[in-house]
Amino acid sequence: MQPIYEGKAKRLWTTDDPSTLRMEFKNDATAFNGEKKASFENKGRLNNAISTLIYQYLEKTGIPTHFVRQIDETNVEVKKVEILMVEVIIRNVSAGSYCKRTGMEEGIPFSQPVIEFSYKSDALGDPLINDDYIREMKLATPEDMAFLRESALKVNAILSGFFAEVGLKLVDFKLEFGRLASDPAQIVLADEISPDGCRLWDLKTGEKMDKDRFRRDLGNVMEAYEEVLKRLKARLETNG
Ligand code: TMP
Ligand code: ASP
Repeated sequence: MQPIYEGKAKRLWTTDDPSTLRMEFKNDATAFNGEKKASFENKGRLNNAISTLIYQYLEKTGIPTHFVRQIDETNVEVKKVEILMVEVIIRNVSAGSYCKRTGMEEGIPFSQPVIEFSYKSDALGDPLINDDYIREMKLATPEDMAFLRESALKVNAILSGFFAEVGLKLVDFKLEFGRLASDPAQIVLADEISPDGCRLWDLKTGEKMDKDRFRRDLGNVMEAYEEVLKRLKARLETNG
């Protein structure tokens, strides 16, 4: 069997049900638009476990997502969607490309979340775009954009609280959305939510617990992901 899509960290496969797909988490890691590459044993398992816990939690709080069920350690079943070519980034604290772009030092909390959009194009390196670009490029309608903003802010509020309860600051993260194949009028949260696409800092020590450990050669990359999973699991076992 051939995957119908292969990305840098995941593969998508068809299932017996034409309305769902199997999403496989790979052990591969890339950074800087694929320039830096590595493979980490257990990364697929850890990201699948973390993303599954988060998606189940979001579904419980009423956020519509593509998530159907976990199949096994490295696979989930998801509703088939047409991914919007707009990546939504939410920032609560200055870091990463925000600092590069503005010269601001890392770690400055924002008065309100900062939302950015980028054009999902590996060939162009996911450039920053705005609502006007998105409308003219016909990536999404102004109504879709209002929905994406509102959903992203809701997800940010929910996940900031969720991570704070396990001693982690949600510094920033990237979301992707898709139109359901079965009902294209409905847009749902898609892709994964894991330390690959989030910045998570330990609230006590400030330690980075995400893919910046790989991007910046800080070492103990999988140990940090394992710790994030351990804390989320413990939180869910005690509070449901
Ligand atoms: P940035 O500071 O590099 O723009 O990243 C902001 C957040 O978005 C960070 O948590 C990592 C995530 N992200 C992705 O998931 N994929 C990407 O391709 C990029 C550039 C960032
Ligand atoms: N995910 C992107 C890449 O693979 C960028 C990043 O996360 O740093 O290159």
